[in-house]
Amino acid sequence: MRILVVGGGGREHALCWAIAASPLCEKLWCAPGNAGIAEDAECLDIAADDVDTLVAFAVEQKLDLVVVGPEQPLVLGLVDRLEAKGIKAFGPSAAAARLEGSKGFMKDLCARHGIPTARYGRFTDPQAAKQLARELGAPVVVKADGLAAGKGVTVAESLEEAEAAIEEALVGGRFGAAGHEVVVEEFLEGEEVSFFALCDGTRALPLAGAQDHKRAFDGDQGPNTGGMGAYSPAPALTPALQARVMAEIVEPTVAAMKAEGAPFRGVLFAGLMIAPDGTPRLLEHNVRFGDPECQVLILRLKSDLLPALVAAADGQLRDFDLRWTDEAAIVVVMAAKGYPGAYEKGGEIRGLEQAAQVEGVTLFHAGTTWARDGRLTAAGGRVLGVAALGPTLKEAQARAYQAVERIDWPGGFCRRDIGWRALGG
Ligand code: AMP
Ligand code: GLY
Repeated sequence: MRILVVGGGGREHALCWAIAASPLCEKLWCAPGNAGIAEDAECLDIAADDVDTLVAFAVEQKLDLVVVGPEQPLVLGLVDRLEAKGIKAFGPSAAAARLEGSKGFMKDLCARHGIPTARYGRFTDPQAAKQLARELGAPVVVKADGLAAGKGVTVAESLEEAEAAIEEALVGGRFGAAGHEVVVEEFLEGEEVSFFALCDGTRALPLAGAQDHKRAFDGDQGPNTGGMGAYSPAPALTPALQARVMAEIVEPTVAAMKAEGAPFRGVLFAGLMIAPDGTPRLLEHNVRFGDPECQVLILRLKSDLLPALVAAADGQLRDFDLRWTDEAAIVVVMAAKGYPGAYEKGGEIRGLEQAAQVEGVTLFHAGTTWARDGRLTAAGGRVLGVAALGPTLKEAQARAYQAVERIDWPGGFCRRDIGWRALGG
């Protein structure tokens, strides 16, 4: 198969790493890729959201499959455009990607189909939005409706903070068109976990659970980020709970999307809150793999990923089976100092070969590039993912941090406590 992966982060490195290892893969491209991906795929100078150029490339190269990593090109309709040209693509149509692209759409779908989630309202009028925030009482959550690069959610500790978030989105235009409408919703308490399932439009095949670390600094302090580390499995997501999540949230979502004429194909990434009494509720749906959650899922997957992606795209997941290792996987993200705010680019990164020699360790690049003089340099906020498998999460964690110690990058930082929720401390 001749395959293109769209995206250039750690998630796409993990996807390329797995796809390149498949005996079914003849030639692999990645757009735009990164320095690590260049070892597994030919990188193309095409941005992940440049739909026209991606479609033209796929047609010209007569690709057999396009695997879309990030949400923007999905919401922009890349998969629809490819399928219109007869090119198979892994990922949802634009209509199905509304599950992530519009929080209001997702909430209304849940309401129509009885999928458990927080109480909410959708608003374009700030006074009405504030009224619901007052009724719900603080803490209360305010969300920009559309894609806002992970910055659209405010968990407001006070009503003043909630009102400010409503004003900023609806009046101040902070998120542009993505914030012309907001969702105001009830704050849910509990343990946050992520669950992933492959979907073929009709069926859902469970993948695995994971837990992310969204704050920049140790002890879950500091600003929200795209994710500073993850591990899988998530002990909080017991097999019994996983079965409930499939039956009460994932399968009803797939059925609802099909019934409403927008069948969901691709990865459904359910962000869940597990209440203290054990009830799972949906915080949000994403329509793609998580980054960095993808890295730990891929490390634990023993089966060939590629046939599973093809089966999902073809509507053929019936009787499909995937094998997983019982080992635990962890990924520690190394980011440029300053991330998620302003950060410096261009610093040299050394020691990756030594780091990769630690038992069980795999390095997934995110924002890296080769300088003209052959040095590996930082080119993004999240720069590297140091991933490790181990017989236990504790051992996987020790391996990952041993590898981190071998990486010489003065411009970078990482959290030192990835895994703490599962390990205690
Ligand atoms: P999102 O960008 O939608 O993933 O939201 C960012 C974070 O906000 C989530 O990971 C949760 O930690 C938190 N969050 C979102 N919705 C709620 C809610 N209804 N109750 C509590 N926390 C929430
Ligand atoms: N790590 C969270 C996300 O990919 O949305």
